[in-house]
Amino acid sequence: MNYHFSRLMSRQSDSVEKLLKNTNDPSLIPFSAGNPAPEAFPVAELAALCGRIFAEQPVAALQYNLSSGYPALRDTVKRWVRERCGVGGVEDEVLITTGSQQGMILTARALCDPGDVVLCEEYTFLGALNSFRSCGADTVGVAMEPDGMSIPDLERKLKAHPNARFLYTIPNFQNPTGVTLSAEKRREVYRLACRYGIVILEDDPYGELRFCGEPLPPIKTLDEEGRVIYCGSFSKVVAPGLRVAYAVANRELVTRMSRDKAGDDVHTSALPQILCHRLITETDFAAHLTGLKQVYRRKARLMMNCLDREAVPSGISYLPIDGGMFLWCTLPEGAGMLDYCARLAADAHVAVVPGSAFAADEGAPCRSFRMNFSTPSDEDIVRGCEQLGVFTRKYLGR
Ligand SMILES: Cc1ncc(COP(=O)(O)O)c(C=O)c1O
Repeated sequence: MNYHFSRLMSRQSDSVEKLLKNTNDPSLIPFSAGNPAPEAFPVAELAALCGRIFAEQPVAALQYNLSSGYPALRDTVKRWVRERCGVGGVEDEVLITTGSQQGMILTARALCDPGDVVLCEEYTFLGALNSFRSCGADTVGVAMEPDGMSIPDLERKLKAHPNARFLYTIPNFQNPTGVTLSAEKRREVYRLACRYGIVILEDDPYGELRFCGEPLPPIKTLDEEGRVIYCGSFSKVVAPGLRVAYAVANRELVTRMSRDKAGDDVHTSALPQILCHRLITETDFAAHLTGLKQVYRRKARLMMNCLDREAVPSGISYLPIDGGMFLWCTLPEGAGMLDYCARLAADAHVAVVPGSAFAADEGAPCRSFRMNFSTPSDEDIVRGCEQLGVFTRKYLGR
C-alpha cells in the first residue's frame, strides 16, 4: 500500500530515532533513560488506595468523566500548587492532562499555526519538540548558560521571530542539561515576554525533585495577565505510568484546551486521577516526597562522585546539579560526540543520549551528552561509570 501521509506527518524525520537507537538495549547499562527511580514508587499506598476506591467509589473510577478533569483532583491540585509554590490566581483554572506531554501539544495546537515559531532552550525535552513540530511549528533555540537561558539571546530571537507564539521553558533541573533558571532571569524572561507579547509555557515536572538548596518561585507567580501556562506532573513524584498531570492557566485558555482535549482522549483516565487525589489528601504525601528526595540525592551524588573519579580527569566536564534526574556532560574540544556515544555503547556497554537529540535547532554542533542517574541501580551507577572511565581514557588518549 502506498500511503498518502499528511504534510505534517511528512515533516517528521527518523534522525532522532537513529540517535536513540542504543538507548533501549537491555544489555547496556541504562544511563540513557528518562525514567524516575522505580524503587521510589509508592506501591503499597497505591495498592491500598486502589482497594478502597473500588470498594467505596467504583462508579466514579469506571464511568466516563469530565474532560477538564476529576473535580476533586482539580481542587486538590489548585490548593497544592498554591501552597507549594504560590501558583494560581483568581483568573486561573486547572486542567488535568494525560501527562504533561499532552499539555505541550494542547498549548501548541491552541496557539500555533503551521509555520509559527516556538522558542525554547537550545537543548530541551524531546517530547516537547516533537509535539510542537507535529503541530507544524518551527522550534528555535535560545542559548543556554549555567543559570538558564541567555537573556540577550532571548531578546535577539524575539526580535528575529515576530511569529514566535510562545516560549517553552523548563525552569527547574532542565531536561537535558540539569540547569535551573535563576530568580533574576525568571523576572527578565517574564518582562521580555510581556514586552514582545508572547505566552510562556512553564514546564515544571522536576521542581519537587530539589534535593539541595532553596526552591525558586515559578515564573507563573509573576503572572498578572494570563501570560503563563504552568504545567506540572505526577509522573516524577508518583509514577509516570499513571499518566496524570495538570496545567494551570487563564480560564479562557483552559476552556479552549479542555474542548480540544475532549476530541483527543475524552478525559484522562479516572482511576489514576482519583489515586492522585487520594494519595495527596489521605496519605502522608509530604513524607513520600521527602523519601523521594533522599533517593535522588543519594543517586545523584553517587554518579557525580563516580564521574569526578572516572571521567573528569580524562577531560569530560559536567554541570553539577541540585535536583532533577539528569547530568549534562561535555567532551573536550575536538572530540566527536556522536562517535563517542556510539562506541561507548558498542565497546563499553554503556548507553547515554547524544545531546543533539535534544537540539531545538536540528543539526547544531554539539559536544554534550545526557546521563540519567535515577533509573540505574547504585551498583550499575558505579560499574557503568568505571566502564565509561576506562573507555574514555582510551578514546581521548588521556
Ligand atoms: C521536561 C519534561 N516535561 C514533560 C515530561 C513528560 O512528562 P509526563 O509523563 O507528565 O508526560 C518530561 C518527561 O520526561 C520532561 O522531561
